[in-house]
Amino acid sequence: MARRPIVAGNWKMNKTVGEALTLVREVRGMVSMVRDKVEVVMAPPFTALPAVAKAIEDSNIGLAAQNCFWEVSGAYTGEISAPMLAEVGCTYVIIGHSERRQHFGETDETVNRRVKAVVDSELLPIICIGETLAEREGGRTLEVVTRQLTGALSGFDGAQAARFVIAYEPVWAIGTGRNATSSQAQEVHAHIREQLTSLFDREISQQVRIQYGGSVKPDNAADLMSKPDVDGALVGGASLKAADFAAIVKAARVES
Ligand code: 13P
Repeated sequence: MARRPIVAGNWKMNKTVGEALTLVREVRGMVSMVRDKVEVVMAPPFTALPAVAKAIEDSNIGLAAQNCFWEVSGAYTGEISAPMLAEVGCTYVIIGHSERRQHFGETDETVNRRVKAVVDSELLPIICIGETLAEREGGRTLEVVTRQLTGALSGFDGAQAARFVIAYEPVWAIGTGRNATSSQAQEVHAHIREQLTSLFDREISQQVRIQYGGSVKPDNAADLMSKPDVDGALVGGASLKAADFAAIVKAARVES
């Protein structure tokens, strides 16, 4: 079955509201011609979500947040809940990004709790998994992504998981300019899909979109996304430049 590619821009901790609006207005004009052939998503910081939501009205761009807490409300100073993100127009929430695992103590268990909160608010998670350089060099890549995937999906059934997006982001490729080769990406993506088949079944695993992330740029995007199990990209640095992000969107492999 054909999966619609999904290209998402993770802006991380970048862009004031004013800067966000400039970027989104530029991107909007540049990606309109892909219409619904490629799903285009932007993940600005929390502060810019309402303004960006308004700026993408009646466009083919969707909105994502970069994280959320698992409780709905309460005495959790500094946290943002999934219902708050739904209210401002998000469709997706990025969960378990390696920067959150690295700097903010995210674990497979807290990832799973956040995914549950996202689903309870009728949002969809983009679940990030990926190995560190030491894990890759130690030959543990497949074991690590299997553990992260299984942990994140614990308690979900196939019908729910079929709509989730998985982002394979090798930590050593993030922000380094050193992307995985397309065959390294394909190997891990195929493994992730096999794991989804064993957790659920083949019909489900064929529906799940698996993005690649880590130094995706206009000049490597088409090669990475040409692989059969690479269903789009999660783009960091290059999503902050309208022309680069639009070029990556246009590089997505579209099944005819
Ligand atoms: P870069 O594209 O800057 O390497 O970041 C990738 C990423 O972390 C997207 O979530």
